[in-house]
Amino acid sequence: MLDELSTGSRATVPDAATTIVGDVPDGGALERAMADVDVVFHQVAVVDVGRTVEHPRETNATNLDGTLAVLDRAREEDARVVLASSAAVYGSADELPIAETAPFEPRSPYAVQKSAADEYARRYADLYELPTVALRYFNVFGPDRRGPYSGVISTFLSQARAGDPITVNGDGEQTRDFVHVDDVVRANLLAATTDDVGAAYNVGSGTRTSIRELAETVRDATGADVPIVHEDPRPGDVRHSVADLSRASRRLGYEPTVELEDGLRSLSARRTRTATSDRTA
Ligand code: UD1
Repeated sequence: MLDELSTGSRATVPDAATTIVGDVPDGGALERAMADVDVVFHQVAVVDVGRTVEHPRETNATNLDGTLAVLDRAREEDARVVLASSAAVYGSADELPIAETAPFEPRSPYAVQKSAADEYARRYADLYELPTVALRYFNVFGPDRRGPYSGVISTFLSQARAGDPITVNGDGEQTRDFVHVDDVVRANLLAATTDDVGAAYNVGSGTRTSIRELAETVRDATGADVPIVHEDPRPGDVRHSVADLSRASRRLGYEPTVELEDGLRSLSARRTRTATSDRTA
């Protein structure tokens, strides 16, 4: 595994895996990490959209140049590349659910970088016969998301646990497609073996959840007695997003398995267990 460990942690990596600490655009680290590999799961990116708005060129170096470095190195090794693309490529889509054939409408440098990386994956397949698969992740949630940019679910869970009000931006009627990380891992494994390469696939749950409904579900799952308050809408917030999973189902055999309520319940249970063991340690 190659990671510069700015948001990740060695503690979550299985002992059997070799960890190389380094950055993707750093040729030396990539050279070593990809020696003799058959498949690469390329997840590295600066995911903080605000940072890409402030620093388009610097973040492009990781998000796009880094992806090109991985693709070039994969050509040397004749390795397959499964890369993390994003639903951000679609922007505010006109038609719901969103199919992979929807036009790209990138609204931020992050979305431009992901659109180009996604497109390059197909060009490398066409031009150099490199087996590539781009997976367009919707809103991913699960354990161990850290840092200030870890998504609405971890924000709501932290607020409920701290006994603070849950803060909904705008009217809360905006919707998202929340997909559990276990399903994202399954999609990656299917992409590692599919014959249908040189293509992009949506990875979501196929279910729309409003942010207001999410706030109520988090409150129920944690049993917290906290109010739900509304704040100003976030500028440029996408109104609705939900994946059409027909292509991923037909060609990859991908089917989401974790319901949002179950995923949230296990996150709150996990947290309670961790808090208990912290106290007894
Ligand atoms: C997510 C991804 C982003 C990707 C985009 C498009 C994360 C952290 N971000 O952005 O990388 O480009 O999908 O696929 O996964 N909200 C509140 N209160 C809060 C925080 C957020 O109401 O305290 C609302 C936001 O206004 C938004 C929704 O929750 O409507 C989701 O926000 P967020 O988790 O930040 O993700 P996206 O903006 O959808």
